[in-house]
Parts: sequence; C-alpha cells; structure tokens
Amino acid sequence: MTNAFLPRFSRLGTPLSPSATKVMLLGAGELGKEVIIALQRFGVEVIAVDRYADAPGMQVAHRAHVVSMTDADALRAVIEQERPHLIVPEIEAIATQVLADVEREGIAEVIPTARATQLTMNREGIRRLAAEELGLPTSPYAFADSLEELQAAIDSGIGYPCVVKPVMSSSGKGQSVLRGPEDVQTAWDYALAGGRVREARVIVEGFIDFEYEITLLTVRAVGADGTVQTAYCEPIGHLQVSGDYVESWQPQAMAPAALAAARDVAGKVTAALGGRGIFGVELFVKGDQVWFSEVSPRPHDTGLVTLASQRLSEFELHARAILGLPVDPSLRRPAASAVIYGGMDQAGIAFEGVAEALQVPESDVRLFGKPESFVKRRMGVAVANGDDTEQARKRAKLAASRVRPVAG
Ligand SMILES: Nc1ncnc2c1ncn2[C@@H]1O[C@H](COP(=O)(O)OP(=O)(O)OP(=O)(O)O)[C@@H](O)[C@H]1O
Ligand SMILES: [Mg+2]
Repeated sequence: MTNAFLPRFSRLGTPLSPSATKVMLLGAGELGKEVIIALQRFGVEVIAVDRYADAPGMQVAHRAHVVSMTDADALRAVIEQERPHLIVPEIEAIATQVLADVEREGIAEVIPTARATQLTMNREGIRRLAAEELGLPTSPYAFADSLEELQAAIDSGIGYPCVVKPVMSSSGKGQSVLRGPEDVQTAWDYALAGGRVREARVIVEGFIDFEYEITLLTVRAVGADGTVQTAYCEPIGHLQVSGDYVESWQPQAMAPAALAAARDVAGKVTAALGGRGIFGVELFVKGDQVWFSEVSPRPHDTGLVTLASQRLSEFELHARAILGLPVDPSLRRPAASAVIYGGMDQAGIAFEGVAEALQVPESDVRLFGKPESFVKRRMGVAVANGDDTEQARKRAKLAASRVRPVAG
C-alpha cells in the first residue's frame, strides 16, 4: 500500500527558535511521555496537553497546557496559540471536529489523519469501516440505543455469550460479557454508566472463543522512494484483566497462515485510515483464523514491551514515522512487560523495592511519575528480556512484583 507524501520535514529545526519543528501531544500519559522523549532526541520542540497538571508527558516537554480536550473552543485556542506543525493525539476523548477543521484549514497536520481519530473514537465508525467497507472478519455485531433494541439484537442472531460495550469508551469501561437473558439488564445499565458521553448507544458483539489475542503494531512511514509504506512489528501477545492489559510479550508465536492473515487485516485497515505513524491493531486468533477487534491510530499500551524487545520502541517508530523518517521494526530479543499498579488511592506516593526489581536479569523499570495514584491506576511497568518469551514473562512479572508502592 503506498500513497503520495510531500516531505514536509526534509529538515529538522532547533527547538525554541524560529526554525523549530513543533509537535503538540494531545494527551500526555505514559505513552505520550515516551513519544516525547523520542521526539526530544531529534531536537523537536514539544508541547504537551492534558486535562491535569504534571501529567507524565508534561514533565519531559518544552511546554505544557492543562486543557479539557473535549472542549472544542479550548482545544482550538491552544492549537492557535502554539501553532504546532504536527498534532499527535495520544487519547481518544478529544473534540475531533477541531482536528478535522485544523487539518482542512492547513493549520497543522493531524497524526495519522483527522478522519482516523474520528473513526476510531467511536466503536461504530471503525467497526463499520472494517466489516462493511473493507470486508474484514470481525465478531458478529449490532448496535442498540435501548434495552429493547439490545435484547432484540441478541435474540435475532448475536446469541449468548456476547459482549456489550458503550460505543464511546476505552480500557474496558462499561463493558461486560453476557451469559444469558438474565444478564441483559445489568449489562445495559453498566454500559450506560461506563460510556464516555451521555449517549445511550452500545455495540453488542458475539463472543469470540479465541485461543489468544495480539496487538500487531503496524507502522506507516515514508520509504526510500518517498511514498508511505507499511511495516509490521512482530506480534505482541497480551493478557487482559477486566479490560486492562496486565502483561504483554513479544514475539507471540503464530501459525504462518494466521500471521499472514493478521498482516493482511492490519495492512488494509491502516491503509484505509491513512497518514503516517504507528497503529495498534488488535486481533483475536484461533488456529489459522483471525478476527479484527479494533485499532488505535497511536502507540498501544501493550506495546510498552517494545521498550525492551525491539531495536526501536513503538514510541521511537512513531516519532520517526510522523517526522517522515525511515523506520526499522525489527525485533532485538524476546521480551515481556508487566504492569505496576498504584494499589492505593493517594497523591504523591513512593516506590520501594526498585533496586531489588532491577536485580532480576535483563530487567528494567519505568515509573511514570503520575501525580496521583489509584488502586487500579497504571503507575509503572517492568520490562525484561529473555531467551524466549516464557523466561521474559517470568522475569518481568518478578521485577514488577518487587516494586512496592507506599504512601509518600
Ligand atoms: N467479541 C469479543 N469476544 C471475546 N472477547 C472480547 C470481545 N470483545 C472484547 N473482548 C475482550 O475484552 C478486551 C477489551 O475489549 P476492547 O479492546 O474492545 O475494549 P476497550 O475498552 O477498547 O479496551 P482497551 O481500551 O483496553 O483496548 C479484549 O482485548 C478481549 O480480551
Ligand atoms: Mg482494546
């Protein structure tokens, strides 16, 4: 898949000078923080935006703004004030109409495209694109605006078990698995409470009895001939607990036919979204069969493992791709990541046991610097290499378990 690309950044400027190459991150969590560090290494001037002060990415950016990114006027104002060359969304909850306007008016380039951010922030947009326009394999699905419509959709084909999700939500919020008719009311109520917006619309999906699930990091970057080309990282396996990833590893072993099918799906969906940058394509796999689940047009949390596994992490790949630079998605050595949770609701916590964690062979730890901890908030991650993913997983889990959040 290729398309024309005008090399806008045939040169990189000096930050904080008139020649600066300026990039604005919308969302400055742990993923944004790593993207910013990668951009800083190319001398890019970085502006971090998030809805709370001292977000991880703000701590490593040139400037920071606390803005509610769902507030269209406030978002537009900060873009006009900073006039970045590139706008890089790190989260879904953004007034994406502003991005579409800014892109159309030529004020800034949106990564990967404003349309991609609009389609992927709503499960309906991306599901219809993938299944109905591109013909990609997905779970059977239907949309419902009321309890009655939900029940009717299940009765007329989706069946049990099935999964109900608000169309606007992430990180498993408002999502539940339904085993039978007795679960429908609870699932509907839960979805309404967990949605990002006060819109009573859900997707109901047939439950896929997959063997394993993967994130296929897919990079669209400018190749030697000046056109955008697609490159694939090795598949990342991961474990989800109540909608949150707790462990990931790379490479996930796959049957050759399944890997080919996964790349085919990822290539098609990312080409349809367009632009440059990294995409996290989420897929379910059973034998040689692959189902498309969803896609993030940005670095993926399960891809934190690439900090240890790849020559260039997903964050470095994203930085290079958006700047129009070449990428190399190759694996260096098998690795795994394990999440470190806050374990308590408190601001300004501390971490003990980091030294013991780093005694684990080939391990590393990232503490994100989030100002406030919650019991289930991701505060850090441990990564580790190994001869294979099994050894790497043991090491990453051991290292993570040795880091103990304590009251500050
Ligand atoms: N149709 C399905 N069949 C089986 N399992 C599913 C299905 N849909 C979702 N899941 C499980 O729930 C997890 C979260 O689902 P999904 O990715 O759609 O939600 P999300 O809120 O976007 O999560 P995240 O933001 O963490 O990616 C999946 O990774 C998978 O483990
Ligand atoms: Mg997901």
